[in-house]
Amino acid sequence: MIGPLFPEDINPVIDKQYMFLSQFLGGPSLYSDEHGHPMMRARHMPFPITRRHAEAWLSCMRSALEEAGHTPELRDLLIERLSGPAYHFVNTSEEET
Ligand code: HEM
Repeated sequence: MIGPLFPEDINPVIDKQYMFLSQFLGGPSLYSDEHGHPMMRARHMPFPITRRHAEAWLSCMRSALEEAGHTPELRDLLIERLSGPAYHFVNTSEEET
């Protein structure tokens, strides 16, 4: 569902995601130091994101957290923290797709 939105070379996105999540979760401001203010909703505007995309993104993140071996408590906490932003980035209704 969300794979086609991403570029073929996913590595730069992986790096940015690492930097962003580090600071989002209270760590060092790696993302802002290199890329400026996160403005994450604005940065997602070029991509049509529906509620189904947000659900798919959260489901991929849940699988990744499972694969990485995190505890169910930490997985639930992170998914809860990320659900707000994920639904906030929705910028397209299902009818528009
Ligand atoms: C709601 C569903 C989401 C979709 C469909 C989505 C999709 C995308 C896409 C297509 C890109 C751009 C890749 C590129 O061409 O460079 C991107 C970038 C990014 N996304 Fe998401 N995303 C979603 C939610 C989130 C959430 C919840 C977060 C974190 C709270 C997040 C963090 C990022 C970051 C840090 C970048 C890199 C921004 C940059 O270019 O500097 N995304 N996302």
